[in-house]
Amino acid sequence: MTKRIKRLPDFDLTLQIKNGEYIKTPRDYQRNWLLNRSMNEFAHDVIALDSLAQKFVKGSVVQGMEDRTQAHLDDMEIMEDWQIPVMKAMAKEVSGQGGHILEVGFGRGIGSDLIQQCGVDRHTIIECNDSIVARFNDWVAQYPDRDISIEHGLWQDVLPNLGSFDGIFFHTYPLKESDYVEQIANSVTFAEHFFEHAANHLKPGGPLLI
Ligand SMILES: C[S@@+](CC[C@H](N)C(=O)[O-])C[C@H]1O[C@@H](n2cnc3c(N)ncnc32)[C@H](O)[C@@H]1O
Repeated sequence: MTKRIKRLPDFDLTLQIKNGEYIKTPRDYQRNWLLNRSMNEFAHDVIALDSLAQKFVKGSVVQGMEDRTQAHLDDMEIMEDWQIPVMKAMAKEVSGQGGHILEVGFGRGIGSDLIQQCGVDRHTIIECNDSIVARFNDWVAQYPDRDISIEHGLWQDVLPNLGSFDGIFFHTYPLKESDYVEQIANSVTFAEHFFEHAANHLKPGGPLLI
């Protein structure tokens, strides 16, 4: 059995390899080098997780997962206020070069307002929820002179028929439990399921904010 222990002020790491043929290199020092490297990398991962944990917010607890495609949700269920500074930063980045911006998920319209404040040339929004599309119809009335349009439906159905955009702002949530499992639990990042679609609809060099 091979055993490695790495001791740091806040935690210890122990690696026990039971199979002597595992990570078998021609020379012992080569195996030591690989094992020590893995211990160092994992220690750095744990230290990075400690920094990351300090940036978490409490948020609300999701109880069960009803299909939310057409749910009537209150503001905090659509998007909690702590995300507003994130919306600001995302809107600024996505709109920085102007042009035609695609926004996926209207929600409370906060991101849409911020994109409009950046003065983009054209703004297309995709939204599937009928009650949120009704909110959009009220919201858009305050911008009579702007080029803003809505595509009512799931982005999975609507996006293939749209062209290319100068920037894409993607802010949705999983609509049902199977989406949650696929897009959150089994993905490295929620953004993963949208990457290939963004690649098909984003002009070269355009910003993608997720
Ligand atoms: C978190 S909210 C967006 C919040 C918005 N950024 C804001 O600033 O208020 C997510 C929105 O995406 C919509 N949505 C979720 N999945 C969708 C899908 N597959 N296609 C289209 N819209 C979707 C939801 O109906 C909801 O309005």
